[in-house]
Amino acid sequence: MHAAFGGIVPELASRDHLKNGGPVLHAALDKAGVTLADVDGIAVTCRPGLSGALLVGVQLARGLAWATDKPVVGVDHLVGHLLAVFLSYPDLAPVPPPELPFVALLASGGHTALYRVDGLELSQVRELGATRDDAAGEAFDKVAKALGLGYPGGPVIDRLAKEGNPDAIPLARPMPSRATLEFSFSGLKTNVARWVEAHGRPGDDQTLRDICAAFQRRVVDTLVKKAMLAVRQEGVQTLVLGGGVAANRELRERAHAAGEKAGLRVVVPAFRACTDNAAMIAFAGLTRLARGEDDSDTLTTSPRTALETVTRKGRGRRG
Ligand code: KG4
Ligand code: ZN
Repeated sequence: MHAAFGGIVPELASRDHLKNGGPVLHAALDKAGVTLADVDGIAVTCRPGLSGALLVGVQLARGLAWATDKPVVGVDHLVGHLLAVFLSYPDLAPVPPPELPFVALLASGGHTALYRVDGLELSQVRELGATRDDAAGEAFDKVAKALGLGYPGGPVIDRLAKEGNPDAIPLARPMPSRATLEFSFSGLKTNVARWVEAHGRPGDDQTLRDICAAFQRRVVDTLVKKAMLAVRQEGVQTLVLGGGVAANRELRERAHAAGEKAGLRVVVPAFRACTDNAAMIAFAGLTRLARGEDDSDTLTTSPRTALETVTRKGRGRRG
């Protein structure tokens, strides 16, 4: 629905939520083989994001909670991504959960940041650094658009990069040699756009694969380098990945390799748990419900994350 526009169109998103909320709820209950009566509580994403879409979900959840007399808790989308690593699936080999404390690299279409996680409560998550401009996934999407590859860009670039030569086309490295935990991807994105301006969209498949490989290599280099820097700085033994970009094959491989070399455990969520999904929201909500929390009377939406943020867009670290 959004593909034709090269990005999310807020009005279309909220209208679509309105149309799909009920049917999706029924389908999920059917698939899980439960009825609403079997459910202990309701979790709903309430931030950060577009208020139109968030409000549709929050109102549906509040209505359900009221009608069934069950507690409802709001979940921060980013907390969902951070905890996705705790999900397990009956058809996949079980992976022992990461031990606390850990450093988490969260890279999605809207956010890219490093966190120190000491526990599963909001106050136990501290941002170490974030992007000053584009999120990593946003860079994938914008580069894909410049190359005429459609939206979202991550999966298609991932696939093409596999057969490309990352050294065939010279692109600048994002924030070279800076020992900071902040990210910047807009320069790299502009670099690719300039290359397309100068050379035109790649006419042959190999050049297209090479430009994808060069771009992806630089994004992954930066993400892995900064994640390892954060782990060393915090003195923890575990690195966790999360967010849509954590589905990237090269990022997963390189993070594992870097962890092995440094004697650290790297834990990556299942592929299906990396990109947006409701299971991670249910799990994050469960941790709140288990503490007896209930937002029935107070639940609202917010465009901002509830996590403390230290990086200012465009300018970098506060203070
Ligand atoms: O977490 P997510 O599903 O939604 C947001 O919260 O933003 O992340 C979506 C982002 C998109 O920018 C998409 O291009 C990117 O994740 N993505 C990937 C891959 N799969 C999805 N980026 C790189 N490689 C992938 N395989
Ligand atoms: Zn997400």
